[in-house]
Amino acid sequence: MTDASLLAVSDLHVSYAENREIVTGLWPDHEGDWLLVAGDIGEKVADIEWTLGTLADRFAKVIWSPGNHELWSGGSDPVQLKGVARYQHLVEMCRGLGVVTPEDPYEVWTGAGGPVTIAPLFTLYDYSWRPAGTRTKAEGLAAAHEAGIVCTDEYFLDPSPYPTRDDWCRARVAETERRLAAVEGPTVLVNHWPLRREPTLVLRYPVFAQWCGTDLTADWHTRFNAAAMVYGHLHIPRSTVYDGVPFEEVSVGYPREWQARRKRERWVRTILPAAQQVERA
Ligand SMILES: [Fe+2]
Ligand SMILES: [Fe+2]
Repeated sequence: MTDASLLAVSDLHVSYAENREIVTGLWPDHEGDWLLVAGDIGEKVADIEWTLGTLADRFAKVIWSPGNHELWSGGSDPVQLKGVARYQHLVEMCRGLGVVTPEDPYEVWTGAGGPVTIAPLFTLYDYSWRPAGTRTKAEGLAAAHEAGIVCTDEYFLDPSPYPTRDDWCRARVAETERRLAAVEGPTVLVNHWPLRREPTLVLRYPVFAQWCGTDLTADWHTRFNAAAMVYGHLHIPRSTVYDGVPFEEVSVGYPREWQARRKRERWVRTILPAAQQVERA
């Protein structure tokens, strides 16, 4: 029997029946496994609740960070809350399921590869990852409109009561920095959006990077002693290393995306123990 592991997945997008089946098939390998869910479960509160409830019944602990899709409003979801009120509603729903959110005290993983503080984050983006040749948010957005590549967030991610999504981002970053500064020892940073820009350099449409993160978090992986940074959003599952820190893109993505790729043996990625730790064991 192997030790329990810290596992991660994101971008389950369960509005697709094929992806719902993936959730139905997600089981721990060990009764002590924890699962990090890095956002984009879906757009409807009932779908998000079904997914997190299913996983919370199976895994020893489930830790969630919101993605942009969870925050969309104005669609057909019976829950019509917007912006911060919608996020708070999801946090309360998670608490009812025993799922840890960015608003809760950070949990400490004490299994193999630990002890490590697990920090689910919610930092959004501030349009600082602008397309080449543009100097302002307005210019960056204009370039995106010209290219015909505009993130749906522009229409459905209401930031209220903040005036803009970038204002919400800056508030989240300030509050999160304050909390992370109080953590001692290594961390695993879990965020829907990557904390550094490099992962977006492989996007098929580079203008999309402006909806993928913020320069404000560029040094968090070293400053806050990350053993790993877990993210999704790009739908480009892979592992890269920056300053010696593994960055793990753990998305499932849309059926048309994963069906076009080589078949995966598992939908979750092991974050701890790290691969080198397993080899040494
Ligand atoms: Fe996604
Ligand atoms: Fe996303």
